[in-house]
Amino acid sequence: MAAALPDCGWLRDVPDDRAVIVVADGLFGFLDPDTVATVLREITGHFPHGELVFNAYTPLVARMIANTTTRSVGLPKGYRGFGIADPRELTARCPGLRFVEEQTGVTAPETARLPWFTRFVARLFAHWPAQARRGVWVLRYAFGAEPGRV
Ligand SMILES: C[S@@+](CC[C@H](N)C(=O)[O-])C[C@H]1O[C@@H](n2cnc3c(N)ncnc32)[C@H](O)[C@@H]1O
Repeated sequence: MAAALPDCGWLRDVPDDRAVIVVADGLFGFLDPDTVATVLREITGHFPHGELVFNAYTPLVARMIANTTTRSVGLPKGYRGFGIADPRELTARCPGLRFVEEQTGVTAPETARLPWFTRFVARLFAHWPAQARRGVWVLRYAFGAEPGRV
């Protein structure tokens, strides 16, 4: 189903009587903060409950992307995609969301398979959340009535 956000008319065709898992992989970094807030408001208002998973960017990384990736796909100079420093910034902006957990590249179980020096750096960065979040950063939130309490 094709859609151009922030238009959420496509939601009308999605059943609203069951839970949903929303996966936004590589999407929010291309959207401005107001569009992300609008889309999340529409989604959390449409479904009775569910979960949201997406890869997030810190404000610094969002700024770096604005000068490289988003420019290369035609977004105007100065365009700033969505970036947050802490997962709770999003719950403040979208009160319907409850923060569940975060996963960073340096704390992922897969780091056990890395060469020793990379593993060492990953362990170091794992104690420094602001730095860890500048790499691969996946956030998970819940919304609506908790399962079993609908
Ligand atoms: C980095 S790609 C993500 C690719 C995707 N995860 C996949 O595996 O195919 C970013 C995607 O965001 C989409 N996108 C960017 N701005 C959008 C908008 N305003 N509305 C809908 N999609 C948008 C682009 O079309 C692109 O497919």
